[in-house]
Amino acid sequence: MAPRTKLAQTNNLPPATEQPNVFPLSWHRQTNKMEEIYEASRREVWDPTELPWDTFDVDSYSWEERESMAYWWTLLSVFDASAPPVFAGAMIKSYEDHEEDAVRRCFFSVTQDEQNHEHMCGLAITKLLGHPDPLTYEPKTELGELAQRNAKWLYFNGGRYWDGFKQAVPKYSLAVLFSSFLMGEIAAATIFHQMADGAREPVFHDAFANIGRDEGRHMAICMTLMERDYPKLDLEDRAIITKQIRAGYLFLSAVLFEPPPDFWDLPDDFIDVQRRCEAVARDAGFHIPEYDTKLENWRQAILNLKAVLDRYNIPFPAIPEVGISGEEVNDIDLEDIIPVF
Ligand SMILES: [Fe+2]
Ligand SMILES: [Fe+2]
Repeated sequence: MAPRTKLAQTNNLPPATEQPNVFPLSWHRQTNKMEEIYEASRREVWDPTELPWDTFDVDSYSWEERESMAYWWTLLSVFDASAPPVFAGAMIKSYEDHEEDAVRRCFFSVTQDEQNHEHMCGLAITKLLGHPDPLTYEPKTELGELAQRNAKWLYFNGGRYWDGFKQAVPKYSLAVLFSSFLMGEIAAATIFHQMADGAREPVFHDAFANIGRDEGRHMAICMTLMERDYPKLDLEDRAIITKQIRAGYLFLSAVLFEPPPDFWDLPDDFIDVQRRCEAVARDAGFHIPEYDTKLENWRQAILNLKAVLDRYNIPFPAIPEVGISGEEVNDIDLEDIIPVF
């Protein structure tokens, strides 16, 4: 192989770096709100291992209660264990796009937060089951057996969207990606605050309070970017956002409400088993909001998002499941969505 010619031998300055190049060498500052959110994320860092685990006596619960609480953490982790790579991908994109400095840092903070949430799920599940993996755990009760089958189906469904996500990230602008982020963050912030308020165990109270606060910050990040970018959105992007919102509803309903059967590939008794687990967990002092509360939370989150999109004349999809009319959106498949939690 011939030695590579050294450009520096013949040129005073190097040629321009071909774009998009993964890293910017600039620290532009345009959106002050983003700086504030990032600063808050540093102040509010928490460590799941430092929660009051010593006050949590897992042996004071029956196996059915332990398996039911672990089921809920498993359900959450189907979303939160996919969030770190999802947000890490978005963070890389923010570098490729040469986003302003604080936007890059905010995405880094979301990645870290989501990893924390995932870590928390793992600690809770491991403690409750005495085993670090809910899919290979040996169930001790009949309900635990059914819960594990549910978990396997959730995992199967969640795993199907990763390729779609990887294809979507380079294709869409951050503004389009944000549209479905926001929906999840709004609803998540609400549900975690409710779970914190009702939790009997201090360790779960603190975890949910921290997670809820993190999700509130993620919501603010999305909102700030929408405010910055939506006024200059093209028409084509508006249509994608409408579809994306409907997809986000279908995907996130599984954890924030109940999984819509047409979209999720699940056994017929899935919801029944999930409700049984939730009832057992609730009776044990693990506060999962009731059906009606979840429905109302979800509806409110969607209405809040609708108010944001209306401001920018982005058509909202019909979500008849929670009583919201709008543009009919059909033919949605897991492969098309950019789901984020
Ligand atoms: Fe999260
Ligand atoms: Fe989040």
